[in-house]
Amino acid sequence: MITIGIIGTGYVGLVHGAVLAHYGFQVTCMDVDDYKITRLREGESPIYEPGLDKLLKEGLQSGALSFTTSAEQVVHNSDVIFIAVGTPSKMDGSADLRYVREAALSIAQYADRDKLVVLKSTLPVGTCGTFQRYFDSAVAGSGAAYRIEVASNPEFLRQGQAVSDALSPSRVIIGTESEHAERLLQSVYSVHADAGIPFLCTNLESAEMIKYAANSFLAVKISFINEMALLAEKVGANISHIAQGMGMDERISPHFLQAGPGYGGSCFPKDTQALVDVGRRSGEELYVVQAAIAANKKQKQTMLDRISETLSYGGSLKGRTIAVWGLAFKPDTDDIRETPSYDVIQGLSGKGAAIRVYCPQGMKQAVRLWPDLNPSIEYCISEEESAIQADAIVIMTEWEQFRRVDWNAIAGSMRSSFLFDCRNMFGQDKAVRGRFHYYGVGDGSDRRHYTLREAQ
Ligand code: UGA
Repeated sequence: MITIGIIGTGYVGLVHGAVLAHYGFQVTCMDVDDYKITRLREGESPIYEPGLDKLLKEGLQSGALSFTTSAEQVVHNSDVIFIAVGTPSKMDGSADLRYVREAALSIAQYADRDKLVVLKSTLPVGTCGTFQRYFDSAVAGSGAAYRIEVASNPEFLRQGQAVSDALSPSRVIIGTESEHAERLLQSVYSVHADAGIPFLCTNLESAEMIKYAANSFLAVKISFINEMALLAEKVGANISHIAQGMGMDERISPHFLQAGPGYGGSCFPKDTQALVDVGRRSGEELYVVQAAIAANKKQKQTMLDRISETLSYGGSLKGRTIAVWGLAFKPDTDDIRETPSYDVIQGLSGKGAAIRVYCPQGMKQAVRLWPDLNPSIEYCISEEESAIQADAIVIMTEWEQFRRVDWNAIAGSMRSSFLFDCRNMFGQDKAVRGRFHYYGVGDGSDRRHYTLREAQ
C-alpha cells in the first residue's frame, strides 16, 4: 500500500489528508505549528469545514491518520508527499514561495529512498520544473541511488464545501514528467477513476497553469456580472433576471453569475494578482485579468459609497449605527481573508459610524486578525442583537440562517429601517423588502430609493 505524507495542514492539506485516510491510505500530516498539531491529535479541527470533524475522528480512531511537527518523520513515513503549504501574495502581487521552499529543503534533507513530491499549493508556472532540477542536483550531489520526482496536482476544492469537493472532485489534473509518476498518482486517486471522475494528464507547466487560469476565469466571470449589475441599476434592468437569462445558454452556464460586493477569500485575489505577475515576467500583459481585479476593487468601493451616501449627513456617519451581517468571505466558512466585509467596515467606521457585527463563524477570526478595526466594532451574539437601535443592516455574506430571522422583531427594534442586501438574498422576497428601505445589487427596476434624511 502506498504511504502518504502531507506537508501543511491548512484547508487544502488537512482536508486532502483526511479524505485519503478515509480511502484507506496510511497518512502522516505535518505542520510547523505546534498548537495546531496538538489540537489535531485530539481530533479538534483548527478550521470550520462541514464534515471535517467526522473524517478526522474516523482517521484518528482507525489509526490511518497521524499528525506530526517533524519533517523527518513525514518524509521517512511516506512514498508520496503532497506539499500543501500557503503561497501568500508579496507586496508586488507575486507569490511568496518561502514555505514551499522550506518543505522542499526538508524533503531533500531526509529522503532516503524514491519519493514522489506532489505540489498541491498553487504555484507560478515553472516552479515544479525548478524543484525537479533542485531535487536532481541534491540527490546527485549526495551520491545516492534513489530519485525524487516532482508532480503537479492542483486542488479545486471550495471552502465551505471542501470535504464534499475532495470526495467528489470535478476533475483530477495530473502534471508529470514520467509515466512512473503518472501511474503512481493514478493509483492514489483510483477511487475517483472508479467513480468515473475525469482525469487529465499533462506536463508540469500546463497543470500549474490550469489552476491559475481556472481561478482567474471565475474571477473574471464574477467581475463581469458585477459590472453588468452596476449598469443594470442605471438602465432600469434587473441583474438576477439578466444572470438567469445568460445562464440558460449552456456555453455560459448559470454558475458564478451571482452579483455581490466583490469576490474575496484566500484564492481569487491572490491568484489573479499572481497570474498577472507571471504574465509580466513572461512578457505578456494580461489585460482581461487586470480588468477583473480593477472591477472588483470598484465593486467594493461602490457598495461602501452607496451605504455611506444614503446614511450620511454632509459626508459624516457620526451618530449612525450600522449592523453588518457576515464577516466570512462566503458562507459555511470562518475564513475572513480578503473579505469584502473588511473594506466596508473600515470605510464606514472611518466616517464615524458605530459598527455592530454578527457572523455565524467569522467573528473569532476577526477578533484575532483585525486589531485595527476592533476598537470600532461591537461583536454581537445574534442578528437580532446587532440590529437593536441600528439605522441600517448590511448583509455582506449570504448565510442561510439570515433567511430565518424574525424580521418583525428586528425591524421593530431598529432606529431607522435601511437594508443593504449586498448578496441579493431578499431581492425576490416582497415581505422582507416591504419592511425596509431596501437596496439590493443590480436592481434598476426599483428606483424608489430614499436617503436617511428623506426617510425621517
Ligand atoms: C475558489 C475556487 O472556486 C475553487 O475551485 C478553488 O479550489 C479555490 O478558490 C482555491 O484556489 O483554493 P473559494 O475561494 O473557496 O474557491 O470560494 P468561491 O466559492 O470560489 O468564492 C470566491 C469568492 O467569489 C467569494 O467571495 C464569493 O462570495 C464570490 N462569488 C462567487 C461571487 O461573488 N459570485 C459568485 O457567483 C460566486
